[in-house]
Amino acid sequence: MFHASTLEGGKPEQYAQLLSQARGLMDGERDRTANAANLSALVYHALPALNWVGFYFYDGTELVVGPFQGLPACVRIAIGRGVCGTAAATRQTQRVHDVHDFEGHIACDAASRSEVVVPLYKGERLIGVFDLDSPEVGRFDADDQAGLEAIAQAFLDTID
Ligand code: SME
Repeated sequence: MFHASTLEGGKPEQYAQLLSQARGLMDGERDRTANAANLSALVYHALPALNWVGFYFYDGTELVVGPFQGLPACVRIAIGRGVCGTAAATRQTQRVHDVHDFEGHIACDAASRSEVVVPLYKGERLIGVFDLDSPEVGRFDADDQAGLEAIAQAFLDTID
């Protein structure tokens, strides 16, 4: 049975603990769906003020929704569209203070007000994106970005 331990300390310390939990959950497992599902659940329940945490995977043409926690979401996102498609196209993490100010933002849950999307690249190969939404404006700062990028890297490390 999984027991979530409370995260303690400042944000970097909390993310170090979360990364350790994430690695533990994925230890010895290389199934992409299983790891994405467990990571989504772990992060969604560990961090405050989130309304969506999950993955979109690249199918060779566009991004297709994968395992997530939150309300049902748009299924397909073209590369270059929305926050997710922009992260995939630019290979840069997109940290959006207020989604209402992001031209082309795709609203899946009307409650979402800020968002961070980490692109998932295995070398030159696009795997997908790791997406988190919050109902609070400015929910994500640089510490969140760094912590979530480290978790995304741990996920990528499980992919052949
Ligand atoms: N807001 C995203 C779409 C995905 S949902 O947030 C789950 C975007 O603009 O790409």
